[in-house]
Amino acid sequence: MQDLNGRVAVITGGASGIGRALAVRFAEEGMRLVLADVEQAALDATVGELAASGAEVTGVVTDVTSFASVEALAEDAYAAYGAVHVLCNNAGVGPPGGLVWETTPNDWVWTFGVNVFGVAHGIQAFVPRMLAGGEEGVVINTSSPDGPIAPMPQASVYAATKCAVTCVTECLAAQLEAESTTLRAAVFYPSGTGLLDTGLWSSDRNRPADLARERPRSTPAMTVAQLREQGVPVQPHGVGVAPNVMVGGAEVALCAATPRTGGRRPARCRALAGGGRARGRVRRATSRPCCAEYRIPVSR
Ligand SMILES: NC(=O)c1ccc[n+]([C@@H]2O[C@H](COP(=O)([O-])OP(=O)(O)OC[C@H]3O[C@@H](n4cnc5c(N)ncnc54)[C@H](O)[C@@H]3O)[C@@H](O)[C@H]2O)c1
Repeated sequence: MQDLNGRVAVITGGASGIGRALAVRFAEEGMRLVLADVEQAALDATVGELAASGAEVTGVVTDVTSFASVEALAEDAYAAYGAVHVLCNNAGVGPPGGLVWETTPNDWVWTFGVNVFGVAHGIQAFVPRMLAGGEEGVVINTSSPDGPIAPMPQASVYAATKCAVTCVTECLAAQLEAESTTLRAAVFYPSGTGLLDTGLWSSDRNRPADLARERPRSTPAMTVAQLREQGVPVQPHGVGVAPNVMVGGAEVALCAATPRTGGRRPARCRALAGGGRARGRVRRATSRPCCAEYRIPVSR
C-alpha cells in the first residue's frame, strides 16, 4: 500500500511516544486517524494537537488488555470511517527490569496482558472486519529488537513479550498471504539505532492497582539515566525519530547487520524484510549495528 491519503489508521498506544509519532506522520500523509489509549489526558492532548493542525482524528479510550474494550474500539472506528486500512497494535509497557527469579506473577500478567494479549485482541477485533471490507490494508504489530533479536538481560519479561509479538505476526503474515487477500501483516521494530527515551520507562504510571507487584523491589528500577551510564544509547524521542522507521505505505524498519551474525542480518529479519514474502517496501533502518547496542552488562 503506497498511497495513504484518505486511508484510515488505528493506532493503539497512540497518545504518547512512538504511537503519537506515527500518528503525526500518518496525518502528514493525509490519513484519517483513530487513536486509542488507556491514558485519557494524554490522549485528549494528542488528539487536540492533531486536530488543531488540521488532521481528521478521533480518540477512543481503550484498554487493550480487555477484548471488550478493543472490540468497542473497532466498532467506533468503523462507525466513524466505515473502513480501517492500517492497524498499528502498538500499545506496550516495559516494567522495570530485574532478575527473572525476582519477577512476580503480576509482572508477567500485566506485561503479557498489554504487549501480547493487546496485540491478539487487535487482530481478533479488526482483522475479520478488514477482511470483510475487502480493501488493501496492513496490520503492523510493534515488537522490539529487545527480545526476538537481542534480549536485554534486564528486561526478561518484556523481551519475552516481544518475541511473542514477532512470532504471532509472522504467523499472521503467512496466513493472510495464504488466504490470497490484499491484507498484509508486518512487524515493526522501532529504535533501529538504539532505545528511545519515551514513556516506556515510566510505564508503571498505567499499571493497574490490582496487578501491582506483590512485593517491593529489592533493587531500584532500571532507568534511562542508568542505561546511559552503562553506555547504552537512549535517544531523545521526537517526531523526527519514528518516521525514519515507517513512511509512506507501511515501510518497516529492520535491524541492520549485527556482529552476532557476522555482518548479515538475522534470518528472522531477512524473512520479514521480504525474501519474496513481504510485499511492502522495506527500509533498512540503519547501517549501524543496532542489535549490539542492546548487549549490555547484566546489572540489577
Ligand atoms: N522506547 C523504546 O525504546 C522502544 C523500543 C522498541 C519498541 N518499543 C515499543 O514501542 C511501543 C510504544 O512504546 P513507547 O516507547 O512509545 O512508550 P510510551 O509509554 O511513550 O507509549 C506507550 C503508550 O501505550 C499506552 N498504553 C499502556 N498500557 C495500555 C493499555 N493497557 N491499553 C492501551 N494503551 C496502553 C500508554 O498510555 C502510552 O501512551 C511499545 O510496544 C514498546 O514496547 C519501544
